[in-house]
Amino acid sequence: MDRIIIKNTISLVNERAKICGFIESVRAHGSVLFFDIRDYSGTIQTVITSSNEDYEVAKKIRPEWVVEVVGIVKERPEKMKNINIETGEVEMEIESITVLSKAKTPPFSISSSGYEINEELRMKYRYIDLRRKRMMENMKMRHKALLHCRNFLNERGFTEIETPILTKSTPEGARDFLVPSRLHPGSFYALPQSPQQYKQMLMVAGLEKYFQIARCFRDEDLRADRQAEFTQIDIELSFTSREEILELVEEMVIQLTEVLFPEKKIKEKPFPRISYNEAIDKWGTDSPDLRHDKDNEEEMAFAFIVDFPMFEQSEKGKWSAVHHPFTKPTQEDTKKIKKSPEKIFSLQYDLVLNGHEIAGGSMRSHDPEILMAVFEVLGHKKEDIENKFGHLFEAFSYGVPPHGGIAFGFERLLMVMRNEENIREVIAFPKTGDGRELTMGTPSSNIEKEQLKELSIKVEKNEKKRGKESN
Ligand code: AMO
Repeated sequence: MDRIIIKNTISLVNERAKICGFIESVRAHGSVLFFDIRDYSGTIQTVITSSNEDYEVAKKIRPEWVVEVVGIVKERPEKMKNINIETGEVEMEIESITVLSKAKTPPFSISSSGYEINEELRMKYRYIDLRRKRMMENMKMRHKALLHCRNFLNERGFTEIETPILTKSTPEGARDFLVPSRLHPGSFYALPQSPQQYKQMLMVAGLEKYFQIARCFRDEDLRADRQAEFTQIDIELSFTSREEILELVEEMVIQLTEVLFPEKKIKEKPFPRISYNEAIDKWGTDSPDLRHDKDNEEEMAFAFIVDFPMFEQSEKGKWSAVHHPFTKPTQEDTKKIKKSPEKIFSLQYDLVLNGHEIAGGSMRSHDPEILMAVFEVLGHKKEDIENKFGHLFEAFSYGVPPHGGIAFGFERLLMVMRNEENIREVIAFPKTGDGRELTMGTPSSNIEKEQLKELSIKVEKNEKKRGKESN
């Protein structure tokens, strides 16, 4: 007999069926035992009486054991129906029950929301934590939302292209994660902070409409809406305009909200556009929370922030790009760019939602002279520019369509949509605030000496500790 998923039992009243899943709860009433059994589709009440041959086995079964049950699906008596769960009108009379796997008592409850439990413990036993309904829903909604965006972009003629994970440093404002090369001792790959330069080179290639569900890596201090590795919905177009890009992403998130989160109310459509200066003047931040009532979880206040300054200056006087150096300044006179960087605005835009920056992008400089002027303001020397970005200048010398794009911080968007306060709640195996993943125990200093030798790496600080671990 084939196994069926639990939510489908409702259409099989008075029929025999086989289900598999975890024991959610055990209740004994005299000589009758009730098990709620859970699979990824739902939960069903099952019942076994003392006259059944498997009763002795059943008596030993505990919560979270994994079982297979064959039985008859029955309509529950009227008084016993539970309208709060999908299978609440039926139950299953067990004919036979088989234990597929025993389970230790879980380290914490999975029937609650989980917010009350120590988070490190939840992360260490993430595979148990993910059994809770809220987390499972988060994972399923993550899948649906990504699929929605992928289909949306596909229907609009975008091509999904994967770019390298082992790549070269690209300046997105954070520290890089480096990977040593075995074949080129002393050389390192950098994990991408974003696919920025590759997607621009895809425009040089003539692909015109690119997207990617891209893993990005940034070694920066983590916060509630920041992870060391995260996912972008990354988009780039040729022969485009700021208007076209803003309209595209606006349509994508409105559709996403209406289809997958119909309980949400979008505060204002089309999304208001606010200049950076106005946002700073009025709210003191470039990602303002524009909700009427901040306690109302269903209100979605989207806004585009536009007209950003191109550069910002550190206290020590060093200039950096507010977005990134590839962003196009509104001023095209390179002398003016170099002379008064503080006066230069750019074609950057951000999308904010309830106080979070959920996407950021810009039109790009495709004129090498302007790009060069920007790098000079940022304090790069000529040979340094050649070394770090020569590939891009060379690519542009073979014909480059004007282009622009944007990238969503996908988890941030989902976090707000799911009313979560931490991005970790929408990531299957997230990192702690200090960059550890606790289920596998990463990062690990338990590396074989041989492996380090192959990579021509000598570790100074942890040498002693590592020696002890590997002994
Ligand atoms: P930017 O650096 O603004 O732009 O990133 C785009 C969006 O990614 C999200 N984000 C993050 N989410 C989680 N954890 C992080 N550490 C993190 N850092 C950023 C934010 C942000 O708006 N290449 C450009 C995009 C472009 O110009 O097309 C880029 O990466 O929601």
